Amino acid sequence: MRTIIKGGTVVTAGDTIDTDVLIEDGVVTALGNAGLEADTVIDASGLLVMPGGIDPHTHLDLPAGGTFSSDDFFTGHRAAAFGGTTCHIDFAMQSKGGTLAEGLETWKKKAEGKAVIDYSFHLGIVDASDEALAEIPFLVSEGVTSLKIFLAYKNVLQIEEEAVLKVLKAAGREGLLTLVHAENGEAIDQTTKRLLAEGKNAMKYHSVAHSAVVEAEATSRAVDYVEMTGAPLYIVHTSAGQGLQAIRRGRRRGLPVMAETCSQYLVLTDKYLDTESFEGAKYICSPPPKSEWDKSIVYECLADGTIQTVATDHCPFWFDGTKEGRIPGKELGKDCWAKVPNGVPGIEDRYVVLWHQAVNSGLITPEQFVALSSTNAAKIFGMYPKKGTIAPGADADIVIFDPDKKRVISARTHHMNVDYNVYEGMEVCGWPVKVLSRGRLIVDGDKWLGEAGTGQFVRRETHGAIL
Ligand code: URP
Ligand code: ZN
Ligand code: ZN
Repeated sequence: MRTIIKGGTVVTAGDTIDTDVLIEDGVVTALGNAGLEADTVIDASGLLVMPGGIDPHTHLDLPAGGTFSSDDFFTGHRAAAFGGTTCHIDFAMQSKGGTLAEGLETWKKKAEGKAVIDYSFHLGIVDASDEALAEIPFLVSEGVTSLKIFLAYKNVLQIEEEAVLKVLKAAGREGLLTLVHAENGEAIDQTTKRLLAEGKNAMKYHSVAHSAVVEAEATSRAVDYVEMTGAPLYIVHTSAGQGLQAIRRGRRRGLPVMAETCSQYLVLTDKYLDTESFEGAKYICSPPPKSEWDKSIVYECLADGTIQTVATDHCPFWFDGTKEGRIPGKELGKDCWAKVPNGVPGIEDRYVVLWHQAVNSGLITPEQFVALSSTNAAKIFGMYPKKGTIAPGADADIVIFDPDKKRVISARTHHMNVDYNVYEGMEVCGWPVKVLSRGRLIVDGDKWLGEAGTGQFVRRETHGAIL
């Protein structure tokens, strides 16, 4: 089966060229303007042809606080595809006392028969025993080459400082990348207890417990751990200006430390949590969005290369999970912020929000957009050049994008399985009009053509790039 994407402008992280793209059996086999023939021709005249987005941080079907995130591997994938994302890395979680292999098996089952786009897993370690670390070669043999550790969520996911160094060293030795959730768990715990004792239950107190300094301190400590161990580290969902400045200083000293931010930190601030009503619960996630100043540093770091990837940390919960057919959601914390399940939806919006906020404003180029939304994640996480580019040999995960198309983001029209959108009412310019997953057209305008069970697990290499 041969398909040509004809007449478009191909944008990769390296360059922008007017060229046709030939796809055979799901793989790009040639670029060129003459002599390419095919069974199917897709007209991309006047449009951009870009690598499908890669979201390196999602939580589909995640058990959390007595419920689950509301998108599974079908609804989440359909929404991702409509938004231009054709691959993502979710977090398989070890359970306390359980093995890493069991965690991986559980998450693989969640995706089975449902996946539409391609996916991979990081392994979240909550019990960093010697036995768990001895499973690293098994993970490598399964194509899972990144581990996540938590400096926060005391008594739930957080590991001891001693274990942090152990994981970093063991992962570094075997060519795996460690991801870290950098917030100070002890400080969050103590402040939470004080706020609750003082009867401070409003949603805005989530921002007080998860303050900027709580993230900045843990981030800066994580950068120091990189210096102590020499092991590479990727700091997830960064939102605090002072934390990002610590990462920037570390990188300037040549440390192998990388940073991810998320699309919500490009738009939201702590003001969104500060409402009289329960509305603020919609924006409760950890770390929460911070001040305008913090947001300005996120933008600065996108442009100067301190940040390599823009993810979503997609972890949706119904705002009103009591309606028929839904599962419990944010209303679990109706009487207190500390009981609100943490997380926001975004897997569908990341690509267009980044384009609109950063390319349309002139902050970054289309090539930098491709790097931040796709290529860098593929390189860092050992999937390049199969994923993250348009070149002979690459999977044909492709977005045909209309940079002039205006749309208003809304829960009324989005495809995520959740009843609100954190970007509600935002007008964006630039929209995916066709999306291909390994050569299959799965989104055509507003039409869904994807099929459950066609997405594949992506095995990843060790020693991904340090960017
Ligand atoms: O609030 C969030 N981010 N929930 C998902 C878990 C995490 O820490 O990434
Ligand atoms: Zn996290
Ligand atoms: Zn997360």
